[in-house]
Parts: sequence; C-alpha cells; structure tokens
Amino acid sequence: MEQNIALEQPISPASSAQAEAPAATKKVFMKTYGCQMNVYDSQLMTDALAADGYRLTDNMEEADLVLLNTCHIREKAAEKVYSELGRIRKLKEEKAANGQELLIGVTGCVAQAEGQEIIRRAPAVDLVVGPQSYHRLPSVVKRARSGEKVVETEYAIEDKFEHLPQPEKAAVRHRGVTAFLTVQEGCDKFCTFCVVPYTRGAEISRPVSQILAEAERLAEAGVREVTLLGQNVNAWHGEGPDGKEWGLGELLFRLAEMPGLARLRYTTSHPRDMTDSLIAAHRDLPQLMPYLHLPVQAGSDRILKAMNRRHTAADYLRLIERIRKARPDIAMSGDFIVGFPGETDEDFEETMRIVREVNYAQAFSFKYSPRPGTPGAAMDNHVEEHVKDERLQRLQALLNEQQQAFATSRVGLEMDVLIEKPGRLPGQVVGRSPWLQAVVIDSELGDIGDIVRVRIAKAGPHSLLAESAGMASS
Ligand code: 5AD
Ligand code: SF4
Repeated sequence: MEQNIALEQPISPASSAQAEAPAATKKVFMKTYGCQMNVYDSQLMTDALAADGYRLTDNMEEADLVLLNTCHIREKAAEKVYSELGRIRKLKEEKAANGQELLIGVTGCVAQAEGQEIIRRAPAVDLVVGPQSYHRLPSVVKRARSGEKVVETEYAIEDKFEHLPQPEKAAVRHRGVTAFLTVQEGCDKFCTFCVVPYTRGAEISRPVSQILAEAERLAEAGVREVTLLGQNVNAWHGEGPDGKEWGLGELLFRLAEMPGLARLRYTTSHPRDMTDSLIAAHRDLPQLMPYLHLPVQAGSDRILKAMNRRHTAADYLRLIERIRKARPDIAMSGDFIVGFPGETDEDFEETMRIVREVNYAQAFSFKYSPRPGTPGAAMDNHVEEHVKDERLQRLQALLNEQQQAFATSRVGLEMDVLIEKPGRLPGQVVGRSPWLQAVVIDSELGDIGDIVRVRIAKAGPHSLLAESAGMASS
C-alpha cells in the first residue's frame, strides 16, 4: 500500500456495533499498525467479534483477547510487532497466574507473510490470521479458546472479498461522519521494493453493486465523507449498471450522485492508472476533494526503472500538469524512498529536483528497507545506512518546508470544513479542510457532520485555526 501512516493507538472503543452486540461478556483490545486499509479491517474485525459477544476495550489489562493488526511494509514496522508481543506475553503470564486467560492474535500483513513462523518466534501467540481470512476470525477465536494454535493464511481467490461487510450489515460499521470503503485489494504492480503483492495478493476489484450498497448504508447512517480504499485504488474497474466497463472515474461520478455524501476521496494511487475519466472526475465533481496522494518514490529514471515503476520522472510531471489543469487548487501528496539499491548522489539529486518541481502539500518519506522475497532485497548494490540517513534528512527538510508553506498559504482563505469531532478545548470542534488538514473552529459555528464555511486565521504545526476559534481559544 502506498500510503503508510503510523497508527499505533488502539481504535476507539466507541462503536455503534456495541449497541447491537449480544450479551458482551468478553473484551478485545486491538492495536492497529500501518495503512488505512488496516484501520478499516480492524473495524471489520471488531464488528465480527462484537456479534460474538466481544466488546472493544482500550485497556489491554482487562482484555480476554489482544489482536495486533500488523504492517510488513518495512522491517521496522514488522519488528515492532515482536517487541509488542514480548510485552503482551508478560501480561498473559500474569493473568494466567491469576487463573485468567488471555488469547493473543496477530492479523494483517505480518500474519500473511510470516504465518507459522510467528508462533515459532513468539510461542505465546494463539492465532495468526491473514487479511483475506478475516471472515473466519470468530471461528478461529473459538478454536483458539479451546486450546488450539490456529494459523489461517490460505485463501481461494474467489473468497477474496468474503471478509468485507455484506451490504445488509454495512450500517453497523458507522463510526462517525467520515468512513473508509474498500473497493479494491491487492496489487499486481510488483515494484521491486514492495512486499504488498506478496502479502495482499493479486489485484482484485470489488463489484459495483456491493460498493454502491455499502456507500448507501454509510450515507443513511450519517456519513458525509467517504474515502475509497485500495492498495492500488485507481486500478479499480468493474461492470457498471449500464453494462459498460467502469473505472474509478465512472465510479466517482456515480457516488457523487448519492444523496448525503458531500465529500469523496480515494487512496492510494499509482501514476500509471490515472485515467482520463479519473482526471475528468477531478475537473467536474465538486464532491471530489482537491487532494491527491500520488507516490512517485524517486526522481531518477534509472532508479524508477530499477524499482519497476514503469514510468519516468517526465511522465509523472506531465501527469501532474494535466491534473492541475483539471483542478487548479489540487494539493499533491507523495511517498518517497531514499537509498534504493544503486542510488547514487546524482540519482538522489533527481529526487530533490522532482520534489522542488511538484511542490508537495504532504509527503511520506522512508529509507529503503530490504523486504524478504522482493527483487530489491536480492540486489547487490545496497546503499550504506549513513548515506540513507543523510539523504532522508535532506529530503525531509525540503518536504517539511513545502508542507509548512502550504499550510501557511491557507491563512486568510475561506474554506468549507466538515466538522468531525469535539476539540481538545471546550467550545471547540475539529474538522477537515478540503486538503485534509485539521481545522479547529468555534463550536458555535456548527455541529458534528455540518460543513461550515470559515476563514483561516492561523496555521499551527499540526492544524489550522479558523478565525472565530482563534478568539475562543485566546
Ligand atoms: N522500504 C522503504 N519504504 C517502502 N515502501 C514500500 N516498501 C518499502 C521498502 N521496502 C514505502 C513506499 C510506499 C509506502 C507505503 O511505503 O514509499 O509507497
Ligand atoms: Fe507496492 Fe508498488 Fe503495488 Fe504500491 S504499486 S502496493 S508500492 S507494489
């Protein structure tokens, strides 16, 4: 998956699923790592377990089941899981000494990639379930409760969407005014650094009817903004109700007609799949927010080739020019890798150059991390760690400067903000700008779920302050 935001806090226990749960006798603690797809999946798992009498807790100590929904994208992310498992094992031992049982489960991409190996390295783990097997989670938990060590990572391709909500159950997942909606999973691009095609499997699109049904349920439940999710979301395609082949652009045009849905987003995209109809959607749909996460990874054609990205730096720049022509206020976001095998100083300067040319509003940058089984890991010209460190520092300094400049450029502008939640201070609420920035505003201006027009007074390091909120907080 292209975008990877560290999310280490447990998912909020506030869930409408709890209200519908049968007698909740057991508690599950869930920790989610990695991308938005994992956040979405954690919610699905919570719902599946709620139907089985598990209530979500944010206190690990009182849990009967701890699930780590893991990320395998870089070594650091995967290794974190093992150190966390060490801590949970201690809790399991303490509980056992008091006659209480604690089951430990690993889900997500580390589960898929390492399977049985996890139980070998961390014998306290009771269950390992890969992303395509989540619909089997309740039965796996039952088996684990009866003492079996369960590893579920095999799946048939036709089962791929089994774990996603059936439309009639989708409303259960409502958790606020914004929601994720998975439309596509897996990846066939095989970038040579990336483990996703191996952990999430082949690229497959969810049928239009299922997507529209889920979107409808979400809208009925009060969701105002939907983010379509996929590892390669813009590779999504399917047969439309008109019998024609649809791409993501056509799907967005259809979703824009759905009453209640005021805002649409999608993530995460590959430059090769930015079709004309998708660019037209950016031009024609006010509901489609002017923010696009479109990773380029590197600026040197030689490295892009070695990464198997199958486009050049000039292709990417031309594409952005077309997108900006269609939607002049669009903000660009990207991912970058420094120190891919064979990257020279000149190659790295090309990355700096492309960053300067594009001018990013948001970006995620990483040191190359060799992943087992990927072609990159087998290359023999690895870059020294201290060189990667220096390059990352320089790149991040430039990206931070651009991000700060983008935030500052919002000051004085009027914009629509979708109010999402109460603020930290009384009398404040927090919403999102069209460009995905947090905006703090005076709670008298609107309620959660409202879209209000505000003028930005100040840009802080992590959020914007709307004019009247500035007065409220002073
Ligand atoms: N090493 C470093 N970064 C990686 N990414 C993916 N694989 C690796 C790797 N092996 C980055 C890419 C991707 C983001 C989610 O993580 O930039 O877009
Ligand atoms: Fe990984 Fe490349 Fe697929 Fe993105 S497009 S998930 S980086 S293989």
